[in-house]
Amino acid sequence: MAKGIEDIPGLEPKPIVGWLGNVAGMFSDPLNALTDLHKEYGDVLTISRGGNPHLFFAGPGKHHTLFVFGAKYNHQLMSNSDVFHSGSILSTLFPYGEVDARRRVLQKLSIGLFGLNGNQHRRQRRLIMPAFHKQRLNVYCDDIVRITNQKLDNWKVGEQIDIWREMMNLTLQIVAQCLFGLNALKESQAFGELIQTWIKLAVSPGVLLFQSDIPGLPYHRFVSISHELDSIVRNIINQIRPTSDENVDVLSLMLSAKDEDGNPAFTDDEIVGHSAIFFTAGHETSSNALAWTFFLLSQHPHVMEKLRLEIDRVLGDSSLNIDHLKQMPYLDNIVKESLRLMPPAPLSARMVAEPVEVGGYELSIGTEVVFSAFHTHRDSSIYENPHQFIPERWETINPTAYEYIPFSTGIRSCVGMPLALMEIPIIIAMVFQKFRLELSSSANVIPHIGLTMSPKYGMPMIVQPRDNNYNAGVGNVKGSIHKYIDLKPI
Ligand code: HEM
Repeated sequence: MAKGIEDIPGLEPKPIVGWLGNVAGMFSDPLNALTDLHKEYGDVLTISRGGNPHLFFAGPGKHHTLFVFGAKYNHQLMSNSDVFHSGSILSTLFPYGEVDARRRVLQKLSIGLFGLNGNQHRRQRRLIMPAFHKQRLNVYCDDIVRITNQKLDNWKVGEQIDIWREMMNLTLQIVAQCLFGLNALKESQAFGELIQTWIKLAVSPGVLLFQSDIPGLPYHRFVSISHELDSIVRNIINQIRPTSDENVDVLSLMLSAKDEDGNPAFTDDEIVGHSAIFFTAGHETSSNALAWTFFLLSQHPHVMEKLRLEIDRVLGDSSLNIDHLKQMPYLDNIVKESLRLMPPAPLSARMVAEPVEVGGYELSIGTEVVFSAFHTHRDSSIYENPHQFIPERWETINPTAYEYIPFSTGIRSCVGMPLALMEIPIIIAMVFQKFRLELSSSANVIPHIGLTMSPKYGMPMIVQPRDNNYNAGVGNVKGSIHKYIDLKPI
């Protein structure tokens, strides 16, 4: 017989501070903390045994958060979207029902695909999907190549750059151009930084735990920045609206979509919500993927050497087009392996919408279930030497859709995956067609787990000429990255 939620093994609340005591330990290094808990308690666990009325991830009325590990649970969660609703781990920040005028902006920003469920989610997702169809990708390819060329023209041999910041800026420009038709997003750097601050605040303990809109508190700043974001996105929409009928970017698709009765399919607020999600989800994840890939390549000279040979053979000095990508299987394996080892979205959550049994425990409505791409990708029964970066493994393995989940799978999988899987290899190939990148000795490589997994102090690298000195900058890497990856040469 299924057991109750209070039987789930895990950490007992601490004396006096209760569950908060367990949460505090997790904020600094949640993935490694979860690895230890997984070892101790097994595939289904909680960090507040016995339950709590208000939990770390869950909002009021959501009584429990549990963590599940393994492809079996990924399958259950991802193939039952009517039972397991999308439930952002930040859902407490986006209030439902009546709220004061100042905080209404938070409701608007939560309307994107992440915030929808059931038929509404399916309908809006279907209307948006054509922006990622094959014909569109061909157009995006040319834009990505052009924008990347402009970026690389500004790099100077011998200078130190923060490759993470550079990629943030580049992928933001790509999203702005491909999905919103904006040639040069004016002040894209400043806009990118605003999004960064917004995301950082959204996942900070000060905002999550003290949601009072009082001047001076981080939550107040979070609400103010949400207003700024809202007005920037609204301005962009107003710039695009007059030409929306001629264009096929995602914004034009939303502006011109009609429902069965011929009325506009999206309200303005919905378009703002979707656009904000596309801007944030569309560049934050890809830039982290790129920064981690450049780091991994900088520490694996034999991989770098093989990649350069492939780029030289397929591309030479010619300008990249979409057919070149199909001829670079090693680059494809490098991207797959990097997304396995350092998945930009390491944790995701679902909210139980109907009573259901998970792992032998009866879960009630409102229970939050967190699953982990990071831990699934480190399951040694699926991946041999899971902590090592071995692109060659993809020549022989073929994990199921629930064993390899950097983009999730099923109806809630990443809509931007086709774009991401095109822009990431294009950028890598174009960088190494021109340069070699060397990790700076000043680098302190510490993964930071917020909404995504990013390098906490950026990724300083030296731009070097296109030479074969692949061993330069290898080894003696500082930082907690060693807890995530086995960097010893293989
Ligand atoms: C390496 C790059 C990327 C990674 C690793 C990634 C990862 C993910 C993951 C894991 C999810 C599902 C989350 C869940 O199951 O709760 C997701 C959803 C989503 N992603 Fe991405 N993503 C990437 C790039 C992009 C890009 C380029 C865009 C848009 C331009 C995008 C837009 C979205 C949207 C809108 C959703 C919500 C889909 C839905 O709920 O129906 N992502 N992404």
